[in-house]
Amino acid sequence: MLGNDDWWRDAVVYQVYPRSFADSDGDGVGDLEGVRGRLPYLARLGVDAIWLSPFYTSPMADGGYDVADYRDVDPMFGSLGDFDALVADTHEAGIRVIVDLVPNHSSDRHPWFQAGLRDRYIFRDRPNDWESIFGGPAWTQVEDGQWYLHLFAPEQPDLNWENPEVRAEFRDILRFWLDRGVDGFRIDVAHGMVKAAGLPDVGAKDGRQAEMLGGEQVPYFDQDGVHAIYREWRPILDSYPGGRMAVAEAWVSSPERLARYIGPDELHQAFNFDFMLADFHAKSFRTVIEKSLKEAETVGAPTTWVLSNHDRPRHVTRHGGLARARAATLLMLALPGSAYLYNGEELGLPEVLDLPDDLRQDPAFLRRGDSRDGCRVPIPWTGSGGMGWTDPWLPIPASWAALSAQAQEDDPGSTLNLYRAALRMRKEHPALGGGTLTWLDSPEDVLAIERDPGLVVVVNTGEEPVLPGVTGEVLLSSGPLPRDGSVPPDTTVWLQRSTVG
Ligand code: NOJ
Repeated sequence: MLGNDDWWRDAVVYQVYPRSFADSDGDGVGDLEGVRGRLPYLARLGVDAIWLSPFYTSPMADGGYDVADYRDVDPMFGSLGDFDALVADTHEAGIRVIVDLVPNHSSDRHPWFQAGLRDRYIFRDRPNDWESIFGGPAWTQVEDGQWYLHLFAPEQPDLNWENPEVRAEFRDILRFWLDRGVDGFRIDVAHGMVKAAGLPDVGAKDGRQAEMLGGEQVPYFDQDGVHAIYREWRPILDSYPGGRMAVAEAWVSSPERLARYIGPDELHQAFNFDFMLADFHAKSFRTVIEKSLKEAETVGAPTTWVLSNHDRPRHVTRHGGLARARAATLLMLALPGSAYLYNGEELGLPEVLDLPDDLRQDPAFLRRGDSRDGCRVPIPWTGSGGMGWTDPWLPIPASWAALSAQAQEDDPGSTLNLYRAALRMRKEHPALGGGTLTWLDSPEDVLAIERDPGLVVVVNTGEEPVLPGVTGEVLLSSGPLPRDGSVPPDTTVWLQRSTVG
């Protein structure tokens, strides 16, 4: 199973947010041993790879996206030995491992910042008008009057990628994890490392210069110079056997700009956030799908699809209910390319909207009232007894007992079993995974897609039931189907087209 260099092209990658996934030692925070213990669950789910959000040494000012030591595991998550054991066992289970790399900024507790090595960061005598993505100015003043740049929290100083020592350090960090056997990297803020020369003012101070996952053109994002970094990294990835890959988290203004990160001399993939931002409507989905496929084609790489992650409200809540979320998922999993799942979406978890303010930990909440904590609530494993957690770092809603993995295990209609069936079929059906798609005629509120050979996907985003327009056997549906052969509202079906018809 491992050994195909192009594995990532149609892979289903499951994002593990380590502190919320599974806790092996009862301290209320998930850890690497917890992930290892859940490998049978992940293998049964049928994912091809896991992507681990940061587990490195970190004071956790931004959930671990503030790294103090890029070559070690935070004691909260375990040890390097635990990491090695996790990689070995994950590979043994036929699943690959992608780790998160955070090159735009370190933690302010990083030894370089602590030692006052200012040329490795961006210090100036006077700040410009740039704003932090988390709110407020992007500059903080130190005792001697200078200011340093932090596009995120003050505890996350931006690194100076003009400095060759910074570049050399990250080449070495890549090798450190590749040597430990990782199959790829998810590059955090991949569009941010190079800033426009002279750090020009944006000229707008409305408190929302740039949004997380937004596509605003600002002098601190998507500068051409960033591509030289990826051209340095690619030969390193290619020098290791087995298809080591990198996927960019890049918020840019258009699919054309996104495509520039991808190619044989840069990164393998980039997240396609447009699909995550699309409304639950046939037209909105179709526009994004067509654009994404067109751009991906120009660079010869398959696109990626994602509906949820640790930065956005879960798609059950965003799209307006579980039925729609399941329908959107079956659409996503039928599209050509690779799909990224976020832990807990296979249980149909909604966003938690009523966390008490004093428990919220997202730095964005403290600075401007936005909170990503509601999608980071720990995963309910069991239907009783704390749901598999002792004093979890965020409280799990009591109603989630019915959504626990245990409660869904044997229920054939559960969301967990829908995901399992879809992933199994993705592996077995020759039409799914890579390839192309054909649009079939359909009413305005309906998407009808054919994947060769003979798999027809019908998504009804309207308010009335519709007839699928083709005859065939139902392979899978996101919700119950009536006997008259129609597809109800908020439902997706996968049909095997009859040979005549
Ligand atoms: C993107 C990550 O997904 C997010 O969680 C983090 O806050 C920022 N990058 C800063 O590292």
